[in-house]
Amino acid sequence: MNRAGIVILISGRGSNMQAILEAARAGDFPAEIRAVISNAPEAAGLERARAADVATEVVNHRDYRNRTEFDRALMEKIDARTPDLVALAGFMRILGPEFIDHYAGRLINIHPSLLPKFPGLDTHERALASGAKVHGASVHFVTREVDSGPIIIQAAVPVLAHDTPETLAARVLEEEHRIYPQAIRWFAENRLSIRDGRVLLDGAQRPEQGLVAASR
Ligand code: GRF
Repeated sequence: MNRAGIVILISGRGSNMQAILEAARAGDFPAEIRAVISNAPEAAGLERARAADVATEVVNHRDYRNRTEFDRALMEKIDARTPDLVALAGFMRILGPEFIDHYAGRLINIHPSLLPKFPGLDTHERALASGAKVHGASVHFVTREVDSGPIIIQAAVPVLAHDTPETLAARVLEEEHRIYPQAIRWFAENRLSIRDGRVLLDGAQRPEQGLVAASR
C-alpha cells in the first residue's frame, strides 16, 4: 500500500497527535506519520511522539524576529519531509498567508467546537455561557481566515446540566480523537474534494461527515 505522508504540528499535550499515531499503527491505515513538529520545546506531545518512535523537531517561534521568518523556517522543516498532508493538532500559533497558501488543500486542523460556532479560544466556556444544548468538534481545511475553512467532519456531544468547561472539554476530546483519524483516512484515500467551499466525500455530502455521539 502506498501510504500518504503526514506531518503533524503541535504545541502542547498532543492527545490528538497520539490518536492519529495509534490509528496509523493499525496495518490498514492509509497514512504514515513522517514527523511531529512543535513550536514549543516543552510540549509534552514531543515526548509521546518519541516514545512512539516518530521523528520530532522543534521550531521555536521565540527564535524568530517575526511571524514570516518563523513560518518560513517551519515550512522548510515540513517540506524536508515531503508530506502529502499537514495536520495541525493543538498547534497554537496563527499561521500567515504565505504558509497557508503554500499548503492550500493539504493543511487541516481540529477545532473544539461545532464551527462556525465559537471560532478562537475558550470554546467550552463560551458554549456553556451561550446555553447551547449541543457542542462538539470539527476537522476542517485551513484557509486564511482562522477556524473558518471547509468542514470535513464534525461530531456533536450533549451539553449536560452539571457540566463545567472541564467535563465538557473531556466529552468533546473523546470525539476529537475519533474524528481526526477518520478525516485523515478519507484524505489519504483521496476521497475528499472541495466544491463551493464545501467538502464532499466521494463526490457528495454524506451523513457520516456529521457524527452524533450517544449522550452519556
Ligand atoms: C484540542 O482540544 C484541539 O481541538 C485544540 O487544542 C486541543 C489540543 O489538545 N485545537 P491536544 O494537544 O491534542 O491534546
